Amino acid sequence: MPALDSLIGHDYQPLSRETGARHALRKGEHIIVLPGFLIEEGVRLFREEALRLLGAHGKRKDLSALNGSPRHMTTVNGRHLLNGEYIPGLLRHPALLEYVTGIVGERVVPYGDTNEACVLIELNNKGDTHGAHCDQFRGVLNVAVAMPDEAEDGGVLAYVPGVRDPAALRGKDRREVWLKPGDAYVMDHTDDCVHEVTPLTRRGSRRIIASLAFSDPKHAGIPSQSSAQLFDGCS
Ligand SMILES: [Fe+2]
Repeated sequence: MPALDSLIGHDYQPLSRETGARHALRKGEHIIVLPGFLIEEGVRLFREEALRLLGAHGKRKDLSALNGSPRHMTTVNGRHLLNGEYIPGLLRHPALLEYVTGIVGERVVPYGDTNEACVLIELNNKGDTHGAHCDQFRGVLNVAVAMPDEAEDGGVLAYVPGVRDPAALRGKDRREVWLKPGDAYVMDHTDDCVHEVTPLTRRGSRRIIASLAFSDPKHAGIPSQSSAQLFDGCS
């Protein structure tokens, strides 16, 4: 079994605060994409493990309006994720938080709601979507484990920096991020950056994200309203 660190792209090694500082977010920016965060072998192993975890522990969530927007997805919460090897190994890796600290320029800790702090989120049906929202924790590091082949297949991350109003996603300030399997991104100050993942448009396409939610040390205990509905609450 390959060591976890060997599955991480060369640009991101060693995972540390210093390496994160090389990829620091610019002032006013909310998102930095980290292309090739996992090497090809990592994508293969993460995908295999994600599909196994989703098969064994995935819970289907169909909510037509959670805080005003739809969620159609399958989730694996933090507790069930521990049945994996590589994915919880990465998301719970202390050096990963150090790396994120380097990116955002301030010390961050895991979000205190452990069921939402490390999760898998899968869109795999036509119409599956992660509707417009802001989060209640500071930010995420998300790793793209599987992505639709073409941008027109949907599953595109859209966001508007510095805005909370979902209507802004239909306006001129909308930005989009296309990810490839193995890419990752950090989104900081997610409570001030409305974002969504557009609906899948084609049957058979699949989008899987492994997500680490992080927080300021002072605010790690703030409960998330979405946690109970999407990830079965705190554990
Ligand atoms: Fe979010």
